[in-house]
Amino acid sequence: TWNMGSFAKEKIEDIRKQVGDRKVLCGVSGGVDSSVVAALLHEALPKEQLVCVFVDQGLLRKDEAEQVQNMFKLLDMNLITIDAKEEFLTALAGVTDPETKRKTIGEKFIEVFDKEASKHTDVSFLAQGTLYTDVIESVSVKGPSKTIKSHHNVGGLPDWMTFELVEPLREIFKDEVRKLGLELGLPKDMIGRHPFPGPGLAIRVMGEVNEEALRLLRESDAIMQEELKATGYYDKVWQAFTVLLNVQSVGVMGDNRTYDNTVCIRMVESVDGMTATFAHIPHDILENMSRRIINEIDGINRVVYDISSKPPATIEWE
Ligand code: XMP
Repeated sequence: TWNMGSFAKEKIEDIRKQVGDRKVLCGVSGGVDSSVVAALLHEALPKEQLVCVFVDQGLLRKDEAEQVQNMFKLLDMNLITIDAKEEFLTALAGVTDPETKRKTIGEKFIEVFDKEASKHTDVSFLAQGTLYTDVIESVSVKGPSKTIKSHHNVGGLPDWMTFELVEPLREIFKDEVRKLGLELGLPKDMIGRHPFPGPGLAIRVMGEVNEEALRLLRESDAIMQEELKATGYYDKVWQAFTVLLNVQSVGVMGDNRTYDNTVCIRMVESVDGMTATFAHIPHDILENMSRRIINEIDGINRVVYDISSKPPATIEWE
């Protein structure tokens, strides 16, 4: 077992050696990985050498964009927020195929990010929170040379981008990233956050991504998270989220017949995200989540629980 203290020091030294007195652009998402990368860089370099860029794709959960901005303010780091909500939704209109969705978001992200980056002519490096898991999953094969899922945050730099990459987490797993974050003094609740995929809520909407689908997903996710935290189960599971199925079903509400959407609750236990089992959550907690989601959200009349493990299912639905 290695000593995280010395690992942090070693990474900071590596960054200083690689970067020197040049500038680094760091893409941040509010997630643990990119926050830890930003914190490492913040520790290693003078403030003016680090510019963090947050692209708001409009695919985040409820209140998440504000939380990201607040955290970076608190840490006294340079943060540029790009509001690209419209642009992403427009690009995603009519897209239903999971890989096309990921590709569309990945390309749009690069485009928006590059437009911002090109304004910073004095920047030489781009920092990313690529994990070992991302690296493996992007090269692993299922059938003849087919990637399982394209992770848009791995090696996604087109040739014409001239940045050198800084990827200090490339050799480590999630639990080690968390230890590193604590070591660097990041807030505990930030470190304890569940993983959230780069393509965001888009890959949790089955079918086309639009404002209405995102609303149903945001509201159901917020209720589910609230119940999970209130019962102390948030820290016991690796990840928990809701998925909006493109399935309508019949229900009754008072004297009326409804024909509304279905939400699936997905909760898993895992060590590194490579394998996972569905979380054995007490039924009364699931019952509360279900009742609240159906009662409080207009447009949802059915909630189901995903009891698949990985493999053969994946954690996300797309
Ligand atoms: P899967 O669905 O492949 O997910 O079992 C494994 C873990 O990776 C997360 N995930 C992503 N993370 N960019 C990310 O940063 C992505 O494109 C992406 N796709 C999946 C997923 O949430 C789970 O924790």
